[in-house]
Amino acid sequence: MNVIICKDKRAVAKEAYKLVRQRVMCGRAKVLGLPTGSTPQGLYQELVRGFKKGEIDFSDVHTFNLDEYIGMAPQDPHSYRHFMDEHLFSHVNIKWDNVYFLDGLTADIDRECARYEEAIVSLGGIKLQVVGIGRDGHIGFNEPGTSLTSRTHMITLAQSTIADNARLFFGGDEEKVPRWALSMGVGTVLDSDEVLMLAVGASKAEAIQGMLEGPITSMNTSSALQLHPNVTVILDEAAATRLKYRDYYHRIAPGNEEAMLKYLAAARRKAGLE
Ligand code: PGA
Repeated sequence: MNVIICKDKRAVAKEAYKLVRQRVMCGRAKVLGLPTGSTPQGLYQELVRGFKKGEIDFSDVHTFNLDEYIGMAPQDPHSYRHFMDEHLFSHVNIKWDNVYFLDGLTADIDRECARYEEAIVSLGGIKLQVVGIGRDGHIGFNEPGTSLTSRTHMITLAQSTIADNARLFFGGDEEKVPRWALSMGVGTVLDSDEVLMLAVGASKAEAIQGMLEGPITSMNTSSALQLHPNVTVILDEAAATRLKYRDYYHRIAPGNEEAMLKYLAAARRKAGLE
């Protein structure tokens, strides 16, 4: 995994924007997977800013969001769909038909989950999946104990997730947070060509340590990303505090490959090979 440790939240957003913009504009990521939550808000602000400056174009981008609460209408101010409209979709030139979302009001959960999986496949798969991480290590809403091969499914939210989401989005009222959600599975996330994980704040430090340095376990579903060949993790210093190999990640930060190529070219010249 490529691990980039940034000074703070703002630097995380800027670094994430650079990666997303590069993938979208070079045509590599016309199908994006997107998360909701407090973490990606900075990235969405950057995407909106970049769009207004003409740096990024969403006209042929398709998006699939990771999850949605069960029982929540799209226009409900607490729905994930509403969050995305407010923070990103209404401010850029994405076509509404290209926005895919799980239907929290579906009458047939299995069918809705199958529809979502089929829609992803019909567009050739997710090229770049952006994810946040829960305090308990969840990606999407895949709480501890979720199969690491799971596909889009219904999930019962963990108490720590309900508490975090109540604090952030429901004025602290846990009773208002739905107990259930629909979420892409861990297997669905692993199928994407590339994954970008963002994490900020000390509350994520333990989950991040488990994801990067712990065993692969359904007790921290993000650890399944160790099996994915193309993952970039962008963290702030606070989220990186518990990492044992922190100094090493700093050494393999961006610029490392260029340094290696320069070193190799010099060695080849010295050996008379160039
Ligand atoms: P947060 O949520 O960005 O609001 O911390 C992340 C997540 O639960 O995936």
